[in-house]
Amino acid sequence: MSRPSLRRALVRAGLEPVAKAPRAKGPRNRGIVPPPRIFLPGEPVSSEPGPADLAALFGRSAPVELEIGTGRARFLLAEAARQPGRDFLGAEVEADYARIAQARASALGLSNVRVACLDGKAFVLSRLAEASLDGLHLYFPDPWPKKKHHKRRVVDPEFAAAAARALRAGALLKVASDHADSFAAIEAILSAEPLLRTLPEAEQGPWTTGTSYEVKFLAQGRPIHKGIWARLG
Ligand SMILES: C[S@@+](CC[C@H](N)C(=O)[O-])C[C@H]1O[C@@H](n2cnc3c(N)ncnc32)[C@H](O)[C@@H]1O
Repeated sequence: MSRPSLRRALVRAGLEPVAKAPRAKGPRNRGIVPPPRIFLPGEPVSSEPGPADLAALFGRSAPVELEIGTGRARFLLAEAARQPGRDFLGAEVEADYARIAQARASALGLSNVRVACLDGKAFVLSRLAEASLDGLHLYFPDPWPKKKHHKRRVVDPEFAAAAARALRAGALLKVASDHADSFAAIEAILSAEPLLRTLPEAEQGPWTTGTSYEVKFLAQGRPIHKGIWARLG
C-alpha cells in the first residue's frame, strides 16, 4: 500500500496513524546468523527465548498455521473465518500492516487470528518447536532480484530445513510468486530439502491464495508460480 492508502486503511481500522511508520525492531531479513531475538506479543523479553508457546498465544490448543508476509491479510482473515477450529498466526515486518490486520481480525470477531510484527524468517529459524505447525504459507515474498540482495530472501537452505522441522508430518508448505526467477530459486531449495516432498501438480489440484497481490496480478494477466511441499513423516 502506498502511504496515503495505508493512512486511509489505518483510519478505517480505527487506528491512529503515526507520523512515521515504525519498522520492526531488529534487522529486516538480512540473512544474519544467528537471527535476532524474536518475541511474540505478550511474551516476556528474555535473553534466551525458548520455543514459542503457541497454545498460550491463542489461549487454546488447536492446529496452528503461519503466514509469513501477511500484508493486507486477505488470505489470513478469509482462511481463519473458513476454519474456526484452526489458529492462524501472521508474521509481518511492517508495523502498520500488522496493526491493521489485527484490528480487522478483531472487527470481524476472529479470535483465531494473531498478527505479530516480526521477521517471519527469523521466527521460523529460532522460535518454533519441532512439529508445532500445521501449515506454512509464503505468498508473494519480496523477490529481491539483485544478486547482492539474494541473502535477504526468506527462503534459503537454512530456512527450508527449519520450516520442514517445524511442520508436523504431512503438513503443507505453500508458496506463490509472480517472479519467475525468485520462484525457481525457492523451488530448487525446497525440493532439495530431505524432509520435504514436492507435491506433483496432479496432487495439488487447482488452488489460489486469495491474497491482495494475487488478486492484483491475476487482474493484470500476470502468470503466477505456485508450489506445495509436504513434510515427510
Ligand atoms: C509483496 S508483499 C505480499 C503481501 C501478501 N502476502 C500478498 O500476497 O498480498 C510482501 C510482504 O511481506 C512482508 N515481509 C517481507 N519480508 C518479511 C519477513 N522476513 N517477515 C515477515 N514479513 C515480511 C512485507 O512487509 C510485505 O508486506
